[in-house]
Amino acid sequence: MKTINEFKISKEKNKPISLVTCYDYWSALIINETEIDAVLVGDSAAMVMHGFSTTVNAEVDMMAYHIAAVKRGLTDKLLIADFPFLANRRGTRYAMETVDKFMKLGANAVKIEGAGSNIKTINHIIQSGVPVMGHIGLTPQSVNAFGGFLLQGKDSPSAKRLIDEAKELENAGCFSIVLELVPSQLAKEITEAINIPTIGIGAGVFTSGQVLVLQDLLGLSKNFNPKFLRKYMNGFDLIKDALNKYDTDVKAKLFPDEKESF
Ligand code: KIV
Repeated sequence: MKTINEFKISKEKNKPISLVTCYDYWSALIINETEIDAVLVGDSAAMVMHGFSTTVNAEVDMMAYHIAAVKRGLTDKLLIADFPFLANRRGTRYAMETVDKFMKLGANAVKIEGAGSNIKTINHIIQSGVPVMGHIGLTPQSVNAFGGFLLQGKDSPSAKRLIDEAKELENAGCFSIVLELVPSQLAKEITEAINIPTIGIGAGVFTSGQVLVLQDLLGLSKNFNPKFLRKYMNGFDLIKDALNKYDTDVKAKLFPDEKESF
């Protein structure tokens, strides 16, 4: 996908949308050659690439650095850039400077967590011609308020609140909404209640699409094994084995050989 229009068409045609996160140039080069529909430069970069325990440590400059690197490798797909912690809570001017920076680095859209009091800023960004992806359910930047990375919308008042938030985001003009860590049936209800696509992570199969963190689906995050994750390879052990083989060859003087020497 190269445009947000294709998101809408996919939902209309009931064609699931696939998204992955990406934070660097060489992963972007690989994703660019796959059938994956679009890429999110997520603020999960703070955890996956920088080793912080939450996304609270992502900064505008950190995101800008990753967006620029991804853009150099991702020529053929839509790039969505995540607003980091508080970037949409420091007034319209700060939010618009962030949007300006991310779009000039090559983002095609931005993603902002939360609804409610964020709607005004989200609407202003959309009115300025920049597509916005919403994000509700477990919004990781608020992990301290939630008291952990916990399933959201479990009781009927909180489920109703999430349905209302999804409608608010659709009315504000969002082109899609991430639903994170919510029960499948609630994700189905939300998806059916709005016309824009929902992209799930830990939200079951009834959303309009799925997003996973690249390193998680490649099995590179050895100690991260949540119920919702499917690892498509054991990347950690594959890479570890390759490095150990290299080390063995170096120490046995088997690398480099004749062909690899001048
Ligand atoms: O930053 C991120 O990786 C995300 C996805 C999990 C949706 O926001």
